[in-house]
Amino acid sequence: MTPIVITKSEAKLRGQIWEWRGSGETIAFVPTMGALHAGHISLIAKAKKYATKIVASIYVNETQFAKGEDLDTYPRDHAKDCAMLEAAGCDLVYIPRTMYGSHHSTTISVGGPALGLETNHRAHFFGGVALIVTKLFNRVQPDIAIFGEKDYQQLLTIRRLSADLDMPVRIIGAPILREADGLAMSSRNRYFDEIGRKIAGQLNIIMTQCAKDIAKGADIKTATTKATHNIQKAGFDSVDYVAVAHAQSLDLLSGKLGNRPARLLIAAHCKGVRLIDNCAIG
Ligand code: PAJ
Repeated sequence: MTPIVITKSEAKLRGQIWEWRGSGETIAFVPTMGALHAGHISLIAKAKKYATKIVASIYVNETQFAKGEDLDTYPRDHAKDCAMLEAAGCDLVYIPRTMYGSHHSTTISVGGPALGLETNHRAHFFGGVALIVTKLFNRVQPDIAIFGEKDYQQLLTIRRLSADLDMPVRIIGAPILREADGLAMSSRNRYFDEIGRKIAGQLNIIMTQCAKDIAKGADIKTATTKATHNIQKAGFDSVDYVAVAHAQSLDLLSGKLGNRPARLLIAAHCKGVRLIDNCAIG
């Protein structure tokens, strides 16, 4: 087995990709912000089914954080991350020092699935994600890229972005990995103390029940209002949204679901930590 390549250098990244391309390899890409957990690693495992070489990146992207968010305190542990990626069979880890030149002046604005939900609470977010993903795609030039359904709106936004801008990369979604009590794995789960972590575990239980009620024919507004109330009762500080949206367009749905493909999406604050989660309905 060839040893993993770990590099901060764009030139070295491009050189290695060039060499692999020359020998007929295909490239799958998994962008991350590090502080890796089994959810991230499952994306590497999935990537291996689609390509012969796997590239991961670690970069805490400043343009997707607003002032007052956790950019400075976001957990960083490159040595541990690289060991996990190597054990998972990743071939190259790209850890750029910076992604933005001092004269950087370009923005990207995605409509469609990027509108509403997260954008109502983090207006800057998808512009920042679209920018960094575009820049990373341009540097790595992958054949495919894997994104988790954990960030469902992000996955659909990147699908829209790459289709609209004719990016020659296939976007693949991967299922959400959860802890034993159902809490979606997240780098931010490490912010919880014992009490917060216990409360956080209720979110998936409430979400799953709400999805079942809607699938069985409950009115969407009634079911999501009940779930919002249950999240607050479980000890969460506040709820940003509990919403049902079309699984592909992310247009909000109301009334009875019928046989429309849908996703239940939730964002809520638990002991100062903002959690997002989602599941398919039916
Ligand atoms: P990050 O939060 O590090 O997530 C990297 C990838 O891992 C994303 O595609 C995310 O959806 C996926 N992921 C996170 N938790 C998961 C879980 N429990 N199960 C399955 N997949 C999971 O998302 C980002 O970074 C950034 O926005 C990024 C795309 C790297 C751009 O900066």
